[in-house]
Amino acid sequence: MREMVIAGNWKMHTTPTDAGDLARTIATRTREPGVTRVICPPFVCLAAVRDALADDDDVAVGAQNVHHELTGAFTGEISAPMLVGLATWVIVGHSERRRDAGEDDALIAKKIARALDAGLRPILCVGEQLADREAGRANEIVDTQIRGSLADIDPGRARDGGLVIAYEPVWAIGTGRNASGIDASAMTDTIRASLDGAGWGVGAAQTPVLYGGSVTSANIGEFLAEPAIDGALVGGASLKPDEMAGIVARAGITARARGLAG
Ligand code: 13P
Repeated sequence: MREMVIAGNWKMHTTPTDAGDLARTIATRTREPGVTRVICPPFVCLAAVRDALADDDDVAVGAQNVHHELTGAFTGEISAPMLVGLATWVIVGHSERRRDAGEDDALIAKKIARALDAGLRPILCVGEQLADREAGRANEIVDTQIRGSLADIDPGRARDGGLVIAYEPVWAIGTGRNASGIDASAMTDTIRASLDGAGWGVGAAQTPVLYGGSVTSANIGEFLAEPAIDGALVGGASLKPDEMAGIVARAGITARARGLAG
């Protein structure tokens, strides 16, 4: 049985002054058996969020990125060992980093290895551009991303390290135009087929796959109704306690239905 995960990616929002209060409010309003909750604030807010959640060790803290080297002359960067004690998860390969920081699959594979070495659970993001989907190339693009981003990562190590994959079609991020549950589920099947093709064996079926891209409390049900989808990576709505309360409540219903809540 796969874990149900609702992760919030706060992107470049909140400050060390207000992040703790927001995290605590969300944590209090989203207690649901069987649902793993993760909050990913900006680097500078990690300590505040960790401290705010100290009494609620049920909510995990994640970083939004990690550098691919351990130490060195990399001005402004944060390495995996630096995150230990601040975060237990990390988002890797988000499309905004692929777009703005030029991250490619080979670099992302190095980051995943660093995250696993440091005991951080990676959330690997993949997803096609609109032009790729319209040209009928979405599956091919995501398959390439999966194979490239996980090249040389031992499947057993990834599974033991709690790797999660998030399918985030780029055209659905921040646009209010979410994918359909059916399309997201079909891509989830493609992702698991890619893992299988890369020799993951049983790990392909065991790896949680989330959907991300304009997820709200109003549309989360469409995704969780798909048995292949194990939760969501939420952007804009993750900053709104009412939205997170609705999203996690819906995930709790699915967790109970899937026998995860016991
Ligand atoms: P939105 O939910 O704002 O579309 O963002 C999705 C996302 O990029 C999460 O990582």
